Amino acid sequence: MTGPSKVAVLGAGHAGPVIARLAVAAGYPVAIATSGDPEDIALITELVIPGARPRWAADAVADADIVVLAIPLHRFGAIDPGLLSGKLVVDAMNYWPASDGVLKAFEDGGSSEIVARRLAGSTVVKALNHIGYHELEDRARLAGAPDRRAAGVAGDDPAAVAAIADLLDRIGYDPVRLDSLRAGRLLQPGGPVFGAVLTLPEFERAVRQEAGSLI
Ligand SMILES: NC(=O)c1ccc[n+]([C@@H]2O[C@H](COP(=O)([O-])OP(=O)(O)OC[C@H]3O[C@@H](n4cnc5c(N)ncnc54)[C@H](OP(=O)(O)O)[C@@H]3O)[C@@H](O)[C@H]2O)c1
Repeated sequence: MTGPSKVAVLGAGHAGPVIARLAVAAGYPVAIATSGDPEDIALITELVIPGARPRWAADAVADADIVVLAIPLHRFGAIDPGLLSGKLVVDAMNYWPASDGVLKAFEDGGSSEIVARRLAGSTVVKALNHIGYHELEDRARLAGAPDRRAAGVAGDDPAAVAAIADLLDRIGYDPVRLDSLRAGRLLQPGGPVFGAVLTLPEFERAVRQEAGSLI
């Protein structure tokens, strides 16, 4: 791969624009897409994510090295797995029955494991899901800042985990690698670090305490 990885963010609601903005600031070429016409988000993208390019989802994905899924989980079924085949996919989604409704397939276990099963041709890691969008932006700090916080990345493919750990580092977080998607359950709602914005030692302690059965 030459030059910085190209990032496509699917989802332009709350989380997507923040992830896109952080990635632009970190020097990544970034495209952002919804399920619809990029013209519909052209103005808002120019205003709130300057430097990012609104595109049709299929075009954004086709050109990307890294695809971030920042869409509600109940809309995930509309994504064509073939579109994402061969891509490194960051699953930033959470199963949230209050807004997703009850999704039987996601009632038990790890949501990213289920996402990965459907995206069998992609390499899926779980990241960017466990910090609220406001905080994700407000708490981002350059490496070495005394108040820098940690963010987790979980996956079964070590190279993919390393690539996204690097992305987390570049956008402002100390990455914590979890070596399986199963361990990514620690990052999801109900897990010890979900919704908490922790320093590296706090994060590692929280994860270690509950890791027993997962890692
Ligand atoms: N909110 C947070 O603080 C936060 C933080 C981290 C992670 N997350 C997770 O990120 C996901 C999105 O949350 P949100 O709060 O950002 O949701 P949201 O505000 O409802 O935004 C959803 C976005 O996804 C787009 N979308 C839906 N289906 C799509 C598709 N097939 N292809 C491309 N874009 C599509 C929607 O646009 P159209 O409807 O126009 O297609 C909309 O722009 C959730 O799973 C959530 O758990 C949220």
